[in-house]
Amino acid sequence: MKSNTLLIGGRWRRADAAEAIPVEDPSTGEVIADIAAATAADVDGAVEAARAALDSDWGALAAADRGRILANIGQAVLAHIDDLAVLEARDVGKPLSQARADVIALARYLEFYGGAADKVHGETIPFKAGYTVYTLWEPHGVTGHIIPWNYPMQIIGRSVGAALAMGNAAVLKPAEQASLTALAFARIAMEAGLPAGALNVVTGLGSVAGAALAGHAGVGHVSFTGSTGVGAMIQRAAAANAVPVTLELGGKSPQIVFDDADLEKAQPFLVNAGIQNAGQTCSAGSRILVQTGVYRQLLSALKDRYQALRVGPAMADLDVGPLISARQKAMVEGYLELGRADGLVAAEGRIVEDAPAGGHYVRPTLFADVPADHRLAQEEIFGPAVVVTPFETEDEAVALANGTEYGLVAGVWTADGGRQMRLARRLRAGQVFLNNYGAAGGVELPFGGVGKSGHGREKGFEALYGFSTLKTVAAYHG
Ligand code: NAI
Ligand code: MG
Repeated sequence: MKSNTLLIGGRWRRADAAEAIPVEDPSTGEVIADIAAATAADVDGAVEAARAALDSDWGALAAADRGRILANIGQAVLAHIDDLAVLEARDVGKPLSQARADVIALARYLEFYGGAADKVHGETIPFKAGYTVYTLWEPHGVTGHIIPWNYPMQIIGRSVGAALAMGNAAVLKPAEQASLTALAFARIAMEAGLPAGALNVVTGLGSVAGAALAGHAGVGHVSFTGSTGVGAMIQRAAAANAVPVTLELGGKSPQIVFDDADLEKAQPFLVNAGIQNAGQTCSAGSRILVQTGVYRQLLSALKDRYQALRVGPAMADLDVGPLISARQKAMVEGYLELGRADGLVAAEGRIVEDAPAGGHYVRPTLFADVPADHRLAQEEIFGPAVVVTPFETEDEAVALANGTEYGLVAGVWTADGGRQMRLARRLRAGQVFLNNYGAAGGVELPFGGVGKSGHGREKGFEALYGFSTLKTVAAYHG
């Protein structure tokens, strides 16, 4: 597969540097392609090309025309669903049906933001006699998008989709571990009519291409999804130019189950929220907090479900695929080892026998009776590892749920309507799910964190305000 080029100003170009980055299939450990390693000079070129697009065709389009182009790209993405799903499954190692769901989500974002492009209205503001005052939502200009490897297509949809809808021109820096669908998407977008330079793709290392983009003086907004540590670096880099950032960082999100919950309904969510994409999900429901009245009963049901989980190559489309890399596997294994050493393992899934030896497989693991201050209960593991912890009262549940440095999402299972409303307010999180978890992706629902989970909101209509800036016009006419 030949993919070692950058998209800059509508042209596919080789990177300034000679060496390429090998692309690994995490299911086998084999190298399946390579990607270009963009240099700071390449990033300069991409930012310049984006600026040029704003000053020409792309910048001149009416909002409705931008929206139509996005909707057309969404259709084109769906027409390529089979190819994109296989590409993502091979590049990220995610089970094929999960990769297909990501393609559908990407198309849905383009449809949603395409439809929204001409619906972001300013206001008129009553003011002194003789004035007419109104507001305009305007693009930031060139937006930088630094995205991770866990959900490349979904994150392109939600960040690049919203930025383009508002008339920005985007420079996308995909993760070095998974850039293939970003490149394929850009090709599809160009074919579907996106003007040259509206979207530029610079593959490469975070420390080189990512850092150059985050601190570039020509970039008006940076959106980043990834680790909390790198998020802080991005914010510092953007601060040098005094430009806003959106940070979608880690999580240690709780799923809280009360005695009166519908346990049958809850179980598949409790499991899936922890193992989806092999647990490499910022909003993974990685802590299950259970009221003591149903603790033993629910734990026993969860153990059965964990023991039935099967892990194998992405194309076999089992419950869990490999982790993204040997490095990620070593990190996750370190946590699993910690739990084993402390005797906390309640149940494990199994790796299928024919899983290739070079793949980065780990057994999904359920840990029980985990103390709230244990590292397994506090730190983001980013693998298929979930802790179960008992609680007695509603206050205790809230204290446990809010007792990490993160605050991304939270799930609550209870039949008590008053308790649902109380917890929705008391939980420290950007999204709260009552009697569900994740709302099936919900592109319409604003998403983002508090605390070390980050700030700013992507997804939903709300993202359109984040990807634009407000101008107030005061006209004096006497
Ligand atoms: P990372 O934060 O290093 O990578 C995310 C993106 O940032 C990639 O595109 C990378 O190239 C870029 N990047 C890295 N260093 C950069 C820098 N100095 N300047 C600008 N961009 C830079 O995350 P990594 O190392 O892939 O994963 C490590 C941990 O991060 C995971 O175990 C997990 O805990 C967390 N993570 C969280 C994600 C989320 O969805 N919130 C996604 C990926 C990772
Ligand atoms: Mg890969």
